[in-house]
Amino acid sequence: MSEEQKNIRNFCIISHIDHGKSTLADRFLELTGTIPKEKMQPQFLDMMPLEREKGITIKMQPVRMEYKGYILNLIDTPGHVDFSYEVSRSLAAVEGAILLVDATKGIQAQTIANLELAEKQGLLIIPAVNKIDSPQAKIEETKEELSILLKIPKNEIFEISAKEGTNVKNLLEKVIEKIPCPVGSRSDSFGTSPKGEIEKPVRALIFDSKYDIYKGVIAYVRLVDGEIKDGEKIYLMASKTEGEIKELGFFKPDLKPQKELKTGEIGYIATGIKEPGKVKVGDTIIKFQDSKSKIQNLEPLAGYKEPKSMVFASIYPENPDDFGLLKEALTKLKLNDPSLNFELEAKEALGRGFQCGFLGTLHVEIISERLYREFKLNLVISTPQVSFQIIDKKDRSFFVKSASEWSDPGQIKESLEPWVKLEIITPTDYFGQVFKILEGVEAMAIQNQYFSKERIILLCEVPLREIIVGFYDRLKSQTQGFASMDYEVLDFRPADLVKLEILIAGRKEEAFSRIVPNKKSLQEGKKLVKKLKEVLPPQLFSVALQAVVGGKIIARETIRAKGKDVIAPLYGGDYTRKRKLLEKQKKGKRELKEKGEIRIPQKAFLEILKG
Ligand code: GTP
Repeated sequence: MSEEQKNIRNFCIISHIDHGKSTLADRFLELTGTIPKEKMQPQFLDMMPLEREKGITIKMQPVRMEYKGYILNLIDTPGHVDFSYEVSRSLAAVEGAILLVDATKGIQAQTIANLELAEKQGLLIIPAVNKIDSPQAKIEETKEELSILLKIPKNEIFEISAKEGTNVKNLLEKVIEKIPCPVGSRSDSFGTSPKGEIEKPVRALIFDSKYDIYKGVIAYVRLVDGEIKDGEKIYLMASKTEGEIKELGFFKPDLKPQKELKTGEIGYIATGIKEPGKVKVGDTIIKFQDSKSKIQNLEPLAGYKEPKSMVFASIYPENPDDFGLLKEALTKLKLNDPSLNFELEAKEALGRGFQCGFLGTLHVEIISERLYREFKLNLVISTPQVSFQIIDKKDRSFFVKSASEWSDPGQIKESLEPWVKLEIITPTDYFGQVFKILEGVEAMAIQNQYFSKERIILLCEVPLREIIVGFYDRLKSQTQGFASMDYEVLDFRPADLVKLEILIAGRKEEAFSRIVPNKKSLQEGKKLVKKLKEVLPPQLFSVALQAVVGGKIIARETIRAKGKDVIAPLYGGDYTRKRKLLEKQKKGKRELKEKGEIRIPQKAFLEILKG
């Protein structure tokens, strides 16, 4: 093994959302001179404009840094629960993780969830308490909690300020000292993944990918065994697809072409494969010649468990001619976000579109925004739903992922809905507020336990439907951002459900239909028409918004006509011209009203899905 290979360290930073991962990555980029100071901007690795606008990391981002003769491959990961698949894929490509905890917030739900993922992967964990510069920092209490969580003495926990750079150098040097080198021999294994071997045939794990119109699919890889050179022919084991390397290299963090990738390194391979669907994360790249050799008998790498979609929404192009573009856009986005699922759907009221599966409603929002920004698509987005189960009168069972698939009530024998185990972590001071929020939903079997003197973990069972829209925001706003949550699906349980429909100017708008519990239908109907009144743009004629259950109107609002002042440009008192113009406007309004055509902008759909 070369000296250089002995000096490779692959790691990522994990934490709850907003605890400072991207800011810490900034300091590492500066310290190692990877990004010159004058080019530096806060959260440098949040490279998508959408990430910068929302102040959150959506995509993982790898970067290769060099420091005192060491090669340090860092992967910055997102913190929000909807993007946890990004985290788990990053973890499989590295040997260690910095676990960052914000001293002003303490341990939160994704601190624990991401730590569990990292431990399962057998990674070495280096804990650090961040934001020690903040006047609100509770450094000792946070260290106390971390030492309980990790079962380690407090003095092993770093105290840093990612913002000011305090102790960041020491932390990086600890990464070099502690995190194992990825290359060695089979017996020299660490954690769940054995070390890579230079002499072995090439095996590279695809942990992410993106599309390039010139180079085809670019696979982000961790080269586990062997060495691979530019121009070589490759083979993807799971998708049984051949390719030829058009370019390979490192992330600096922009793509930096090289002649070869060595064992243990993290880099990219431009596969030359033009069909996005053929390159899947978790697949193993080997050399084409090895795929033909019986002697090699190569085993694919472990890959990833596909994440299960939690919520479903139908996405249709506003302009039916854009259907092809939408299909292409979703295929390309899936390459970059494999937790997105979609299948073709055709509904009379909506045309041709896709039923899409997401990990949560923030995920729906982000994908919708990306489709709009990156592909210039105006969309109709149905209200996100969980997947319900129906057993019909003939005892046939099926899953319904959108309100438009809901059966005729006369055919339904039983309906069921998914329940989850919800875990909320809150400082004791906010316990009352959290409890109140839980009282407003159908939570069952609430238990609480002290995590530490200052923090309580609440465990309960709730229908998934209750927490997918608005719940997280409520929890955050009622506890000033201190409480946090995580959940996992338990089972399907019987529920009395009905379909709530929305009529706008007398026309059914299928995209706003939703399945709701019978006893909540009135409340939901009222809320929905009220919200629609707020988010729909003013119209030239008055528009009725009606909520309907089983053919009965249960709630109504009216958007008042907001007349355009057609006579404003006319000075003086030319009465006949004024009257003519007003008559013309009246006729126009009547025609529009008769057609019942109301353009619903994408923004309105997004506002509705936020609850
Ligand atoms: P996600 O990736 O979206 O989970 O966020 P993140 O963990 O990458 O957090 P980010 O680096 O975006 O920081 C969140 C906020 O905390 C930003 O406003 C930072 O400026 C602030 N912040 C980060 N580190 C420090 C610190 O050491 N001190 C103080 N006072 N603020 C910090």
